[in-house]
Amino acid sequence: MTFKHPNVKKLLDWYHAHKRDLPWRKTKDIYPIWVSEVMLQQTQVTTVIPYYKRFLERFPTIQHLAEGSEQEVLKLWEGMGYYSRIRNLHRAAQQVMKGYDGKIPDTAETFQKLPGVGPYIAAAVLSIALDIPLPAVDGNVMRVYTRFHGISDDIRKNTVRQHIFKELKGIMPTEPPGAAGDFTQAFMELGALVCTPQKPQCQSCPLNEQCTAFTNNTIECYPYKSPTGKVPEYRVSIGIIFKEDKFYIQKRPSEGHLGGLWEFPGGKAAADETPEQTLFRECKEELDCEVEILQPLPLVRHAYSHFKIQMSPFICRLKDGDILPKENRPFRWITISELDLYPFPGANHKIFPRLKEFFKDFFARNKKTGCFIV
Ligand code: ADE
Repeated sequence: MTFKHPNVKKLLDWYHAHKRDLPWRKTKDIYPIWVSEVMLQQTQVTTVIPYYKRFLERFPTIQHLAEGSEQEVLKLWEGMGYYSRIRNLHRAAQQVMKGYDGKIPDTAETFQKLPGVGPYIAAAVLSIALDIPLPAVDGNVMRVYTRFHGISDDIRKNTVRQHIFKELKGIMPTEPPGAAGDFTQAFMELGALVCTPQKPQCQSCPLNEQCTAFTNNTIECYPYKSPTGKVPEYRVSIGIIFKEDKFYIQKRPSEGHLGGLWEFPGGKAAADETPEQTLFRECKEELDCEVEILQPLPLVRHAYSHFKIQMSPFICRLKDGDILPKENRPFRWITISELDLYPFPGANHKIFPRLKEFFKDFFARNKKTGCFIV
């Protein structure tokens, strides 16, 4: 057995001795490996495991996924965030069924034509499932590599990623069978277990003897990532508008941030607007209705990838008339027990416990009189 570089052998030996027993490592089937890599692209391993199992129980093959409804697919992803990942995977599954006779394309070029498949996903999936020697360069790999070689260039630069890709491609093993996939996962595993962002365990690293950062005691210098501007924070008001024992929800457009998920009506505050004024204005603009506030719920803070929000939720009712959604969006009037049937963004989940409490209290108080919110 030959390896192109002695460090590759050390890395693979370490991997075989220390790798975690993860569910997607029990298969060589490309479909579940693809699902796992899409999930793992922005979500931690421990969070992914139960999602991965549930997802594959419900959609064991690419055909099952292609035939699933958007709502069900989103519901199974709910809580992991970055929903464009699953919308793309769902669309890609449909394209594979239609355009490739159900067979997932097996070259980097063809695979990357599918929605959501970029160079990282293509390399990870094709190397792990099919042993094609393509290095998957993600944040973990860049951290390990820049520390090992003492590269202090900005890892945000494409040229740095390309350099690492080229170098790793040159040493990536193609034999014995399984070595290319193991190489990909070994790098990821080393980054996750040993060469961690904080407090790396250099004493137990299989590559420490030749590691530049370890030898020079400069671990904290790598990787260098140039700072970005501060993430903006928006103030948002939303209305949970009741009519009798039901309240109003609407579906977000399929494209764009949180596309296809359900939400309460509302929106961003204009400068100098109070949260109440924002609510009234948004209800008028979005739904052509006037509402009155029954009870404000506590402020919720939530961070998305590129911005943060401070959300002021208000339980309210229609002053008179009805709701007239302006943009032809799907909407529903639902009871509290139906809430869990719909996929909602993470920030909404933070208000559900208070909403459920409100419901319980309000209807317990008013049950005797038979009074609903009207
Ligand atoms: N992160 C990305 N891909 C991974 C994999 N296959 N195993 C563990 N962590 C990962």
